[in-house]
Amino acid sequence: DAAQQETLFQTRIDAEEKIEPKDWMPEKYRQNLIRQISQHAHSEVIGMQPEGNWITRAPTLHRKCVLLAKVQDEGGHGLYLYSAAETLGITREELIEGLHSGKAKYASIFNYPSLTWADMGAIGWLVDGAAIVNQVSLQRTSYGPYSRGMVRICKEESFHQRQGYHIMMTLARGSAEQKAMAQDALDRFWWPSLMMFGPHDAESAHSAQSMKWKIKRQSNDELRQKFVDQSVKQAEVIGLTIPDPDLKWNEERGHYDFGEIDWEEFTRVINGDGMCNRQRLAHHIRAHEEGQWVRDAITAHEAKQRERAAS
Ligand code: ACO
Repeated sequence: DAAQQETLFQTRIDAEEKIEPKDWMPEKYRQNLIRQISQHAHSEVIGMQPEGNWITRAPTLHRKCVLLAKVQDEGGHGLYLYSAAETLGITREELIEGLHSGKAKYASIFNYPSLTWADMGAIGWLVDGAAIVNQVSLQRTSYGPYSRGMVRICKEESFHQRQGYHIMMTLARGSAEQKAMAQDALDRFWWPSLMMFGPHDAESAHSAQSMKWKIKRQSNDELRQKFVDQSVKQAEVIGLTIPDPDLKWNEERGHYDFGEIDWEEFTRVINGDGMCNRQRLAHHIRAHEEGQWVRDAITAHEAKQRERAAS
């Protein structure tokens, strides 16, 4: 019966077995995964916009090639993740509809504007850096297709993080104006990057169940702390200052203490009222509508081939 199946399922999870698409799983496990994986996919795809904004204005041909490749990678990550979500019995159309209707969220960070070239540095260094901390942990998630997708995504993300850090390093070693531009980008992206890890554990609606099912392997606060600890040294090396007066090494904890996030801003942004929410969604909807003929053509081509093969 159902209770027995659920006990067996938990035993498999506890034994670190991966759950595969055709295995029995509790409906809530399936729904929770669809929610998280689809939001993750949407984040990758919406995340192409702030960086796409700078492709035509990259300062050198080399930087332009690198940024172009990086933004394409993000699109690819979105595609792996949509495919992983589809293995749970939901269609791509339903997933996109969830994004367009506002039912499905995407990472709050992508609702901040990219104002200068230095923002490409800050996004690669901090946003991809935060994403890696989270995704390295998700490589061990209990759902097989999600876990395997994360392994590949993490490899690409580490290249993204380095290209961003390299932009910051170059600017920080440049003229006074360039260094100021790098510091300004750090000032604007630091706090939103910390928000990427979600609410405090005590406020996190899904954490307890997701940890029990090993969908999440480390908590929002644990991962955020890890990110802060690794970023302090990185900022020091290039001579930039993290905009947090409360940031201080805590000998006893063996971690950095840091200031409180503006949770009011976090809530506002995830509920649709950040600086760029409307612009990001409108752009996605427009691009999706303009791409309808491509999807139609592919479907028609596929039908024709199937017909030919049958006759
Ligand atoms: N931006 C937008 N929404 C967020 C954020 C954020 N930074 N943090 C939390 N939320 C949302 C959750 O999605 C959830 O909303 P929902 O119930 O409508 O789905 C709500 O706030 C409550 O948060 P939690 O209970 O903590 O949610 P969850 O357990 O899913 O944890 C987290 C949030 C850590 C983001 C988790 O979903 C996760 O690890 N996702 C995969 C990683 C990911 O999505 N990365 C995307 C950014 S990286 C990149 O694309 C480059």
